Amino acid sequence: MAGGPLVFQRGEGAYLIDVDGNRLIDYYCGMGAMVLGHTPRGVQQAVKDQVEKGILYAGQSEIEFEAARILCERIPSAQRIRFGSSGSEVAQAAFRLARAATGKRIILKFEGHYHGWFDNILWSTAPAENAAGPAEVPVRVPGSVGQDLIDAAGLDVIGWNDLAGLEARLAKGDIAGVIMEPAMCNQGAIPPAPGYLEGALAACREHGAILIFDEVITGFRLGRNSVQGRFGVTPDLSIFAKAIANGFPVAAIVGRADLLDLFVTGGVLHGGTFNAQPVTMAAMVATQNALTPQHYEQSSKRGIRLRDGIAGILNDAGIKAQVTGFELMFHVGFGLEAPAKNYRDLLKLDKMGYAKFAHALLKRGVRVLERGAWFVSSAHDDAVIDATLDAVKGAAGEIATT
Ligand SMILES: Cc1ncc(COP(=O)(O)O)c(C=O)c1O
Repeated sequence: MAGGPLVFQRGEGAYLIDVDGNRLIDYYCGMGAMVLGHTPRGVQQAVKDQVEKGILYAGQSEIEFEAARILCERIPSAQRIRFGSSGSEVAQAAFRLARAATGKRIILKFEGHYHGWFDNILWSTAPAENAAGPAEVPVRVPGSVGQDLIDAAGLDVIGWNDLAGLEARLAKGDIAGVIMEPAMCNQGAIPPAPGYLEGALAACREHGAILIFDEVITGFRLGRNSVQGRFGVTPDLSIFAKAIANGFPVAAIVGRADLLDLFVTGGVLHGGTFNAQPVTMAAMVATQNALTPQHYEQSSKRGIRLRDGIAGILNDAGIKAQVTGFELMFHVGFGLEAPAKNYRDLLKLDKMGYAKFAHALLKRGVRVLERGAWFVSSAHDDAVIDATLDAVKGAAGEIATT
């Protein structure tokens, strides 16, 4: 395979084909969005049909109603729903609602969690160890050059999966909203500690803060009812994007009726020319219709076989690594002695070692994210998993001997 950046020509099921004609098994899956793979016929057809009926109505449509109905049925926190176009944008809607509802200012986020690229929230998403400060009181570290640093005034950052720390911060009484990836998947693939989500909800209730789950990655990937269904904790608000419409730009903010109604009667603005654009709504309905219990059952079996197969191969090759996470999204963490519980644990990752492994896989026709995340789709059938495990064996052998 030639060096240099990859340029793709088309996608086909679990594969991406680049302009040089290489067929790569793809574990980026559109950064997690393509839960059905690259060319799900039902979604493609629904989109073509909707294009025939018109592209943008600037008004409500039956297909939007159907999309909302399905989501409200599947997502425990969804008493009401509004659509947007990206995860970054609906996160902003959630902050605005939390501030409007509580009359308080501060949004509390967690180190290593990502909620979009806007100035007011792009803090401490992947801070360097020498910039992050003490684990108990992390320094707020901006994520981009050019970011307006004044936005730090509306935000605080603490460590995740530490209930006592969260309770103590909430007790100061100034928090409008707490936003978290309820299973941390931007960095690592870390489940919440037993009781953490329940405790976070109780603490938010006690101190008058709004609990927001960011299910942009986990939504429809960690199960049909997402993390909140899987772990049985219903937040006040949640946001979704990515897998909701298998690669079409749909995002949603859902939650308590009294909160979402603030958009209608409470003077809280949420705008967007492309909100609930009918073509994307058609993609969403078709995606959700394909996300049957059988989809999860079958894909999950294969995802577990892949995840555990990788762990076994690395172990046999004498490569120190932790393979952690879920059926359709897991993380291969080189250099870790034990599964990470939070961002600080991930600072021990051997990133160089993993980058070499990712490159060795690419040479063998398997494309994985260099940060260690693997996204699996229903197009990754048993033959694809077998081919991937063969490539993993080859790549592990190569890096173990270099
Ligand atoms: C957990 C999480 N929240 C929010 C976002 C932002 O979503 P978008 O890229 O659609 O703006 C992302 C994107 O990767 C994400 O992973």
